[in-house]
Amino acid sequence: MMLIVNNIKKSFDSPNGKLTVLNGISFEVSAGELVVISGESGVGKTTLLLTIGALLVPDDGTVIFDSQNPYQLSNNKRAEFRAKNIGFIFQQFHLMPYLNISENVSLPAIASNVDNEKQLYSRAQTLIDELGLSERKYHLPEQLSVGEKQRVALIRALLCQPKLILADEPTGNLDEDNANIVISKLREFTQQGGIAILATHDGRLAELADKHIALSPK
Ligand SMILES: Nc1ncnc2c1ncn2[C@@H]1O[C@H](COP(=O)(O)OP(=O)(O)OP(=O)(O)O)[C@@H](O)[C@H]1O
Ligand SMILES: [Mg+2]
Repeated sequence: MMLIVNNIKKSFDSPNGKLTVLNGISFEVSAGELVVISGESGVGKTTLLLTIGALLVPDDGTVIFDSQNPYQLSNNKRAEFRAKNIGFIFQQFHLMPYLNISENVSLPAIASNVDNEKQLYSRAQTLIDELGLSERKYHLPEQLSVGEKQRVALIRALLCQPKLILADEPTGNLDEDNANIVISKLREFTQQGGIAILATHDGRLAELADKHIALSPK
């Protein structure tokens, strides 16, 4: 299993005209590797993660994951590809507002693997405990702090057992202890053969990575 990002270019239309954000990004990642994408705010980290995650079509270049180019698939097949392969921890989390934490983390995994409902639900409870959220199981997302929501989004991604986790600032709102727990969970995921790609403005995280992609302003 490999991820190949080849010469990705992306521009946006803006009030100031065409804004070039990604200008030919290339790198390769093997199973078991943790990659950090760093760079200052506005440099294009989220844009790159969305492009890798089959959510934003690049203007040029290719993304190949596990020998497949998701942008050559139909919309339905691309959604299937995402559900099967990718766990996304969004910068704004995108939790379901009317589901409690226990439901938020387990329902997406159960939806695509109904036969394992009991097992997934019990795995969810273990992860909730490990990430220090035991007392928040029945809270709604709006009743959580930002750092708590961040950990919920991580659990949701892990439970779907993806091959690739894309994590946008997964430690951005956490104290050092909780940040370490999140990083060690992502490490555990790569040690089991997954690929994790983290976007962060925290240059220190780059030291922990197997590969470091530093984006710079155009
Ligand atoms: N849909 C869009 N339309 C127009 N411009 C966009 C769009 N999405 C992003 N941009 C611009 O692209 C640039 C990169 O945005 P992006 O969100 O990738 O940055 P980032 O590195 O993730 O920043 P941060 O660290 O603040 O999260 C920004 O300057 C933003 O204004
Ligand atoms: Mg961002």
